[in-house]
Amino acid sequence: MDMAFLSISFILTLLCLVGYQLLCLMDLEDDYINSYDSSSRINRTVLPEFIVQGVFCVILFITRH
Ligand SMILES: *[C@@H]1O[C@H](CO)[C@@H](O)[C@H](O)[C@H]1NC(C)=O
Repeated sequence: MDMAFLSISFILTLLCLVGYQLLCLMDLEDDYINSYDSSSRINRTVLPEFIVQGVFCVILFITRH
């Protein structure tokens, strides 16, 4: 598979995860949800985000980019 396509996919995935976290924080700021719900929603995205970031790092390392 093309490395540029792979990188863009990873970066877009990470951007979506961060965008979702930002949306949760904006909801919290506007008082649509309480802080506990906001933090449990954000907590659920933290582990997948770290895993994607880690796999991305390993792939970049292996392909010597
Ligand atoms: C979210 O994660 C933090 C850090 O691990 C923890 O302190 C907090 O209690 C968690 N929040 C919820 C709602 O699970």
